Amino acid sequence: MRKYAIIGVGHVGATIAYTLVCKGIADELILIDTNTAKARAEQLDLQDAQARLDSRTIIKINDYHELADTDILFITSGNIHALDHASGNRWAEFDYTKEIVQAIAPKVKASGFNGVAIDTMNPCDAITHYFQRATGLSRAQVFGTGTFLDTARMQKVVAEVFDCDPKNISGYVYGEHGESQFTAWSTVQVNGVPITDLVDSHHLDLDALEAEARHGGWAVHSGKGYTSFAIATCAVKLSEAVFANARLACPVSAYSETFDTYVGQPAIIGKNGVESVTTLALTADETAKFQNSANTIIEKFHAFDD
Ligand code: LAC
Repeated sequence: MRKYAIIGVGHVGATIAYTLVCKGIADELILIDTNTAKARAEQLDLQDAQARLDSRTIIKINDYHELADTDILFITSGNIHALDHASGNRWAEFDYTKEIVQAIAPKVKASGFNGVAIDTMNPCDAITHYFQRATGLSRAQVFGTGTFLDTARMQKVVAEVFDCDPKNISGYVYGEHGESQFTAWSTVQVNGVPITDLVDSHHLDLDALEAEARHGGWAVHSGKGYTSFAIATCAVKLSEAVFANARLACPVSAYSETFDTYVGQPAIIGKNGVESVTTLALTADETAKFQNSANTIIEKFHAFDD
């Protein structure tokens, strides 16, 4: 039995639900939202799809007791009205998302949930930390999509330059799922070739590519008012890595002992959630940027902290 739950069935939560159902990877799916009519509508819409799918998912709504034996929990609430793509600031959602966590964490805790929780809420690193502390779940059990999404955007941007598939671009965006993130170009390879060896021959402007990846979310947000497909795909991929105990090497928002904060960094994702974080030999410049991004998260988090 693979049992999933989603708290918050807005654009992201509903897209995660749809992806899980279409992929046939959830035996049971619990949708939780304070807007009962919306949760019920998403349940009905997904149930109506069942006769045309090759798999079966039992879908229930708004029962925190169901979390007791849930394997994977996504927390996905947001307030699209707080976000302004012109300012590019995910911290604008923090007051709202903090309140959501304050409301849901005691219920998650009381349910006896002991699975793996994946956060997509913004500001991702701070909210992941906040949720982990509020629920008392272990740091391994709670992680955020973080720079997994920004890394996908970097892969797309670089792949376009080389006219290849994004999956053939490896490497990591580190740091905040936000403005202080950076692409660690020393880790990036194109079809196995270090990108730093290709800069001159291909006249690459790495700063411009990095900026395009960083602004990728805002490019989508400015057109449709929210983002959903890429973030949902990232969240589902991470959940599959947990179920398969895939020990997938990928960047997520994971707790860093070094910085004492959640921050985007390479980790190994398996059945326990974050099995370990991976320390790569970054350049001095990248190490400074990583420190700076972690500091940014800590400072902003504390500025808002109770
Ligand atoms: C994005 C949102 C999820 O970058 O922060 O798409």
